[in-house]
Amino acid sequence: MTTAVTARAHTNIALVKYWGKADQHLILPETSSLSLTLDQFYTDTTVAFDPALSADEVTVNQQRLSPAASQKVRHLLDLVRAQSRQDTFARVTSTNHVPMAAGLASSASAFAALAGAASQAAGLTLSRRDLSRLARRGSGSATRSIYGGFVEWHAGHNDATSYAEPLLEQVTWPVAIVALVLDPHQKRVSSRQGMQASVATSPYYPAWKQVVAHDLAAIKPAILDHDFTQVGEILESNAMRMHALTLSADPAFSYFNGATLTAMQTVRDLRAAGIACYYTLDAGPNLKVFCQSQDIAAITARFTHDFGHDRVIVAHPGPGLSWL
Ligand code: ADP
Ligand code: DP6
Ligand code: CO
Repeated sequence: MTTAVTARAHTNIALVKYWGKADQHLILPETSSLSLTLDQFYTDTTVAFDPALSADEVTVNQQRLSPAASQKVRHLLDLVRAQSRQDTFARVTSTNHVPMAAGLASSASAFAALAGAASQAAGLTLSRRDLSRLARRGSGSATRSIYGGFVEWHAGHNDATSYAEPLLEQVTWPVAIVALVLDPHQKRVSSRQGMQASVATSPYYPAWKQVVAHDLAAIKPAILDHDFTQVGEILESNAMRMHALTLSADPAFSYFNGATLTAMQTVRDLRAAGIACYYTLDAGPNLKVFCQSQDIAAITARFTHDFGHDRVIVAHPGPGLSWL
């Protein structure tokens, strides 16, 4: 049982967002969602169950986490212990391969990699669907990072029915995401707190559920048809409508900073100049710009000029969970 297992999972960027839970404990979302897994950002996690341990030991990016900071990790290990009918503690070592403190989504790759490494280290052989359900218990967005390419998380109505599935896993469509890192610091409001406040206090939350249903129905055929304009228009408006839930919460809050608004205008300027590109952003100030491969050079040139070379990272569709 002390065999160490290492798994790698990539982050994903939501094109139709998950923003709200119907069940906090099981992490069942209010709506389905759809994402693109990215090749540039990933987490490697090693897990070994060791009878010599008297508690779980969790190290992330060379730093040993306190019991409080490792609570979500230990919760997922508890689920794995229950499934494998044993009570051995584990040593978890994880490294986020996200350009230094870029403040890009980490919980998705982190909990997908942990689900893969912990389940296999415990001797379980889970299907990808069951890995997706397990990853969901750590962080909702991790449900989708089990798969590569374009992925849909079906909201479902209980633990068994809430899992992700690939819409298009082997992506031959020449599209890219240009990430613009505008603020490397950790956000003040976590995704978990932010979505809970939005569900509880935004009067627009019922409308958001209708927006998501409509956007999902429209974006799936557009992705399968490689309809770039349609996909771009949907992902940009979906992101803005998600962020409207933060501005309309009580108390209101926002993940935008001044540079975020400037960068949004830069994207609109690029479009006006004939370079097709669309932005989205998760629970942070950093923009991810969806574009076609032929336009990467022009877009990165403009962003590098306006925001600096270190702030621009080009990513492509990435793969699903793997074991190293
Ligand atoms: P993000 O936008 O980065 O996903 P979240 O607020 O959703 O931000 O999640 C950040 C949480 O994920 C933090 O609690 C952090 O401790 C946890 N986390 C990040 N990377 C890892 C990792 N490699 N292993 C375990 N937990 C991680
Ligand atoms: C804006 O998955 O980080 O990135 O389930 O509470 O861990 P928890 O939240 P998390 O939320 C992600 C929110 C989002 C949109 C998305 O990824 O769909
Ligand atoms: Co997250």
